[in-house]
Amino acid sequence: MCGIIGYVGYRRAAAVGMNCLRRLEYRGYDSCGAAVITNGSITVKKGIGKIDELNAALHLDALPGHTGIFHTRWATHGGVTVENAHPHCDEEEQFSIVHNGIIENYVQLKERLIAQGHIFSSSTDTEVIVHLIAQYYTGNLREAVLRALHDIEGSYALGVIAVNHPTTLIAARHESPLIVGVGDHEFFIASDIPALGSETKKIIIMENKEVVELTPESAEFFSLDGKKITKNHQVVEWDAQSAEKGGFDHFMLKEIFEQPRAVEDAIANRIEDSCITLREELPGLDISSIKRIIIVACGTSWHAGLIAEFMLEELARIPTEVEYASEFRYRNPIIDRGTLVLAISQSGETADTLAALREAKKRGANVLGIVNVIGSSIARESDFVLFTHAGPEIGVASTKAFTSQLAVLYLLTVYLGEVKKVLPIDQIRNRIRDIRALPLQMQRVLHLNADIQEIAKKYVKKTNALYLGRGINYPIALEGALKLKEVSYIHAEGYPAAEMKHGPIALIDEHMPVFVVATQDDQTYKKVMSNIEEVKARHGEVIAIATTGDEEIGKKADVVIRVPKNSYILSPLLSIIPLQLLSYHVAVLRGCDVDRPRNLAKAVCVE
Ligand code: G6P
Repeated sequence: MCGIIGYVGYRRAAAVGMNCLRRLEYRGYDSCGAAVITNGSITVKKGIGKIDELNAALHLDALPGHTGIFHTRWATHGGVTVENAHPHCDEEEQFSIVHNGIIENYVQLKERLIAQGHIFSSSTDTEVIVHLIAQYYTGNLREAVLRALHDIEGSYALGVIAVNHPTTLIAARHESPLIVGVGDHEFFIASDIPALGSETKKIIIMENKEVVELTPESAEFFSLDGKKITKNHQVVEWDAQSAEKGGFDHFMLKEIFEQPRAVEDAIANRIEDSCITLREELPGLDISSIKRIIIVACGTSWHAGLIAEFMLEELARIPTEVEYASEFRYRNPIIDRGTLVLAISQSGETADTLAALREAKKRGANVLGIVNVIGSSIARESDFVLFTHAGPEIGVASTKAFTSQLAVLYLLTVYLGEVKKVLPIDQIRNRIRDIRALPLQMQRVLHLNADIQEIAKKYVKKTNALYLGRGINYPIALEGALKLKEVSYIHAEGYPAAEMKHGPIALIDEHMPVFVVATQDDQTYKKVMSNIEEVKARHGEVIAIATTGDEEIGKKADVVIRVPKNSYILSPLLSIIPLQLLSYHVAVLRGCDVDRPRNLAKAVCVE
């Protein structure tokens, strides 16, 4: 999984390409590189490290030439070394390639190519492609790429340049995302739309098994069997500003602060008077036939799924199960036309979620995608899509994407309850009132930022933390723990509060901070208070997320962070914010790279 960029035009390719590449760093950042064509040869510069560090050392963006390919890597095959960084070349350095994906049959191909005399300089799967192109080349670059693609099995988004074709860029896609940007006498390729920033708003989305030949003046598309195909561009409304930090130190903090706006955007135009108006976005969805819902997702999106399970069963009375997308296929799931599968994904490119979606469709289910990135694979392959409209999320740790997913899942739930006639009209009105109140309440929680920064100082040196919650707040305990471990590398575990006594209680002593989601509700509050007592009895330190006005909890917990009261079902959208802020500040104080935590990537396009 990696990010790729390509440029062909009249400007200096490296200046444009490296600038765009920075916006793809969320896809991986262990190494990066550039290849450009200059004066009849290919110049490659690459190395280990993040883009800005490497650029400062190697001046990648100063390379001359008008045709170039650029890459930021998240290692899959082959360790993090300079040799394994992309771009890769054949031994004659006549061709160069950048690739995102996995070539599954590379071992056999490599053996064959080595036996034929090819010399490899990396241990990547990618390198076989460029040797195949060199082998098949007889004067027509596109033909050589097409022949090479016939030999390979697996996934790819790739860009190829060649010395003999200094104004040509060939790109191809299968199972890894790729778009073409249409400029003024110039073209771009990129792993996603926001990478192009304000370069162009004219986009052509590549489909699987498509190849494009780009020159400054033309873009010709082909199928894998070499047949020409016609594709039209679309104009995307993407606010380039929102992909910048806008005065915040990190994207993560900016995105935490964007949550009231993200929730507003998620619900905007979906509520009219006292009705949820999703009918137009879900044309043809036969709600009366939905007997069961299965949610598939990964990471933070999976946590959103766990909360949606509560929502859907409580308000729409539809039996719901939540699956890790990566596990879904390995259980021979029972699915029929009465099953609606929800695929939740910020990026819309997570390979496991995409694979689960395809499996569900194969077995006859309707799939509804809850997706942030427009034009992404999950959005395109789902039968129905509800976009979350959170705007680009750049920080690797998901924040605003999570709360906007929850807002959309809530609207969907109330809508289903309404259509299925299980929610009476006065309840629907109350539910709508509750979510409308949310953005302002979220804003109030954000006012606690300075206090939470102070609180964070206490936990900087900790090595472990426990997060507890019950009912709908159990997924918030999981998400709080995930946020802390992702960005600060402190080991953290989320647990159902009552389950604590079946194991984790053994870990509790005066060194163990225990974060407890203890907001007031009729369902779990009293029980959670008892769990706090159990922690205190073992000298654990309790940091409680509580409801404004709850004085009782101050007598029990060591630290109390108060959030406004909303309904039980919507309370997670408020209680998660202090936990996000706390993780952020702890990580910053520990000197961690919060936007690009080690070993992680924002979109995991490998299974
Ligand atoms: C990666 C990201 C997480 C994200 C997960 C699922 O692990 O680092 O932040 O929650 O993928 O991604 P998706 O784009 O499908 O929501």
